Amino acid sequence: MNYQPLKYIYQSAGNPEASTLLLLHGTGGNETDLIPLAKNFGKNVNILSVRGNVVEQGMPRFFRRLSMGVFDEEDIKFRTHELVSFIKEVASKEKFNASKLIALGYSNGANIAGATLILYPDFLSGAILFRPMPPFKNMPKVKTSKKVPVFISAGNLDGMVHISEIQQYTSHLEANHFNIELHTINTGHNLVEEDSRKAIIWMHKNFL
Ligand code: MLT
Repeated sequence: MNYQPLKYIYQSAGNPEASTLLLLHGTGGNETDLIPLAKNFGKNVNILSVRGNVVEQGMPRFFRRLSMGVFDEEDIKFRTHELVSFIKEVASKEKFNASKLIALGYSNGANIAGATLILYPDFLSGAILFRPMPPFKNMPKVKTSKKVPVFISAGNLDGMVHISEIQQYTSHLEANHFNIELHTINTGHNLVEEDSRKAIIWMHKNFL
């Protein structure tokens, strides 16, 4: 496969047992964006932040889209395989425990994190999806017995995705053995302080 490396930043917690937060930015962002937010999760987590390899009119993304909210699903699959293969390489280079990886994605980054949950259900230990959308029109069934915890926060005023679509997405993930905590926040597509506050509580409950 013709996989390309991704630009990344890795910050070690200096503890071989630490979990690693995998940061996945939104459209037009980069690997520096979510680092200040990730710092609020405390010193005991490694940070691996990557930049999406797709560029749409100068804006980095994690996969191609055909139009606003309409995804190139073949590219989602390819980019998800590319990302997972890259993370495995970085884990052995940077020496973190790849079996303790928790994705934290916003918008487009949350969508590739969702695709990773579906295509590689045993790869992530957990996922934080801020303002996600379902990555596939027909969501595939997932074979896992792991019960991976997933935090989702949706904005009830989000113009990109209706809350009912998120509820359907959540039901699909629950029916496929993920352990979902869904929060609806009184805001739009933008991230607010309540997102990180709730995600940190979830993280402490599940991992720290
Ligand atoms: C996507 O393309 O993944 C979603 O529309 C969200 C975004 O614009 O980043």
